[in-house]
Amino acid sequence: MMVTRVFSGIQPTGTLHIGNYFGAVRNWAVMQNDVDCIICIVDYHSITADVDPKTLRQASLDMAIDLIASGIDPEKTILFVQSDVPQHTELCWILGCVTSFGDLSRMTQFKDKSSKEAFVSSGLFTYPVLQAADILLYLADGVPIGEDQVQHLELSRRVARRFNSRFGEMFPEPEPVVGKKGARIMSLSDPTAKMSKSAGESHYVGVMEPENSIRKKVRSAVTDMGPEAGDAMSPGISNLFEILELSTEATGKTGLVEELRSEFAGGALMYSKLKDTVFEQLMEVLRPIQQRRAELEASGDVIDMLRSGADKARAIATKTMAQVRSLVGLGTDSD
Ligand code: TRP
Repeated sequence: MMVTRVFSGIQPTGTLHIGNYFGAVRNWAVMQNDVDCIICIVDYHSITADVDPKTLRQASLDMAIDLIASGIDPEKTILFVQSDVPQHTELCWILGCVTSFGDLSRMTQFKDKSSKEAFVSSGLFTYPVLQAADILLYLADGVPIGEDQVQHLELSRRVARRFNSRFGEMFPEPEPVVGKKGARIMSLSDPTAKMSKSAGESHYVGVMEPENSIRKKVRSAVTDMGPEAGDAMSPGISNLFEILELSTEATGKTGLVEELRSEFAGGALMYSKLKDTVFEQLMEVLRPIQQRRAELEASGDVIDMLRSGADKARAIATKTMAQVRSLVGLGTDSD
């Protein structure tokens, strides 16, 4: 099936890291040229964790600035903040009524997160229903996602099916859209875990981080004792090669990867050289993004871009909800 409208969401964590950039954002920026693209900064999802209300709005705005600086064009993509379109929560309630408690209880992300919390909110439990609402509200048929979201998307499909069979054909079943490369960047200080901001400073490289700090982080990335000819790569080294490959794809210096790979195979690769090369190539990718961010922030235009994104999103959402309300028999007859 050809996908015609894709939807994806990202939490307003305040800043993008290179795992987000190479794993998701870069692909969205390509897709926006071919299909309808809707990218949502999911602040309703964020409050399932204990975020600080004083910084949440700024975090959403900062995320928008990062996304635009990284290539999301608000003229091509509908970019907005989730809670500016409250229909997400209205649809979430309705979909909650066709979501099985058992299915939600089996979500591995819920089991994982709830086992670490003293207070487990029902919002955390129904997080995947809100995610289904995000996607279905726009009748999106494609969702670009990483492996960790596969189970959530499968639930969205089940919810769409159950709604359609109970109330009538309404929602397409959204398909996963896998990026051209399953880019999965791991943590620098624990290369067996996915790169994430929540694990702590040493684990990630921020797209907007100052050069010095990135150099330091790359230099202290976990490696191993050094290669011997014919060795398999340890997770830390293969992660550095992954970052190098992704960066040189953009800078055009892909020859560097082969050169260093063959040095590795011969047991002669100096890890300091690998790290310096990773740092240099990565900075070539990040420098223009950082520059654009500074310009965008100074312009003060991003708030208006988000408002106009929300207007476009709301127009679609209002139409969907009128149909949903009528199919379900809610409210007074207002058609
Ligand atoms: N749960 C997703 C994540 O943490 C974010 C998200 C919310 C999302 N709504 C979505 C992703 C809809 C894709 C589609 O990454």
